[in-house]
Amino acid sequence: MNFAQPIAMLPQARPVLDVPPVLEEELEAAERESLIARIKSLLVERDAVLVAHYYTSADLQRLAEETGGCVSDSLEMARFGHASKARTLVVAGVRFMGETAKILNPEKRVLMPDLGAECSLDLSCPAEDFTRFCDAHPDREVVVYANTSAAVKARADWMVTSSIAAKVVAHLHAQGKKLIWAPDRYLGDYVQKATGADMLLWQGSCVVHERFKEDGIRELKALHPEAAVLVHPESPAGVIALADVVGSTTQLIRAAAELPHPTLIVATDNGIFHKMRLAAPGKTFLEAPTGGRGATCVSCAHCPWMAMNGLRKLCRVLETGDNEIHVEEDVRARAEVSIHRMLEFAARTGIGLAGRSGD
Ligand code: 13P
Ligand code: SF4
Repeated sequence: MNFAQPIAMLPQARPVLDVPPVLEEELEAAERESLIARIKSLLVERDAVLVAHYYTSADLQRLAEETGGCVSDSLEMARFGHASKARTLVVAGVRFMGETAKILNPEKRVLMPDLGAECSLDLSCPAEDFTRFCDAHPDREVVVYANTSAAVKARADWMVTSSIAAKVVAHLHAQGKKLIWAPDRYLGDYVQKATGADMLLWQGSCVVHERFKEDGIRELKALHPEAAVLVHPESPAGVIALADVVGSTTQLIRAAAELPHPTLIVATDNGIFHKMRLAAPGKTFLEAPTGGRGATCVSCAHCPWMAMNGLRKLCRVLETGDNEIHVEEDVRARAEVSIHRMLEFAARTGIGLAGRSGD
């Protein structure tokens, strides 16, 4: 971070104080089966497709795949929606994912099981504060993470995902550009160290990933010397330093399958274990420690907003058409520009959004 800036011009993330508790949906077997059957027929009746994130429940992930939808990271969710012929996209994830789907698919109806499913990164970066900050640094190009509102994306020059952030920033750095990065300070710090770029970092953080503990991972690794450590780059630098692989959700699932290690210590939301177990059957998965449920931890390796998605709410929005995502057209059109820059960069450089050449 550039400490030479006057203090008023330093990024001021809004503190995220009202993190909800993790409330998983609890269902008896009979209700669960009947909801699944009802949702399957409603998806057909409503010409809808279910697009779910890896952090949602195993039920939702299975349902998405069994009904021709998809389970993936946030960008692939949006790209899948674009390719799909369905008139309605039901996005099981958090709000910025629904908004991104709408930005890229304005002609479609986008519904979400719960519009209160936020993200601490998005909440830490209100558009008005961020715009003021950007306006104070007109000499800097603005790069934002996908975990932001449509209005913040609209103010940005580029939107990036964790899989491609370092490559885009290296490209801009090579052109001599100075940057503003928002909102995740840990991912920003990781990208800054990897590229050497001049970046002013917004000070937001993810309530899930910032809880992973360096000491706890060291202790776990001492008990399981055969294990590899997989870390999402929204984690603190000390945790990232212990990683064998740092990557986006898709990259971590792939690493779990490809690494020779029989045991994997995983520092990301534990919803990912459903896919990881399918991708790497027979391996042992251990949650990276967060400090424990009795400690200061609020979310304990599971995103409280992702947990707001469930079968009951999904069934209800399909019945009623409630919880539609709307994005004002001028905001949508500007946000689309920053997303398309990344998509074109990925296509031009032959980098898949999961981060590998030829993906
Ligand atoms: P991905 O887009 O890489 O899946 O990550 C989204 C997220 O919210 C991670 O916490
Ligand atoms: Fe946001 Fe963190 Fe939840 Fe991902 S896990 S949606 S970054 S709060």
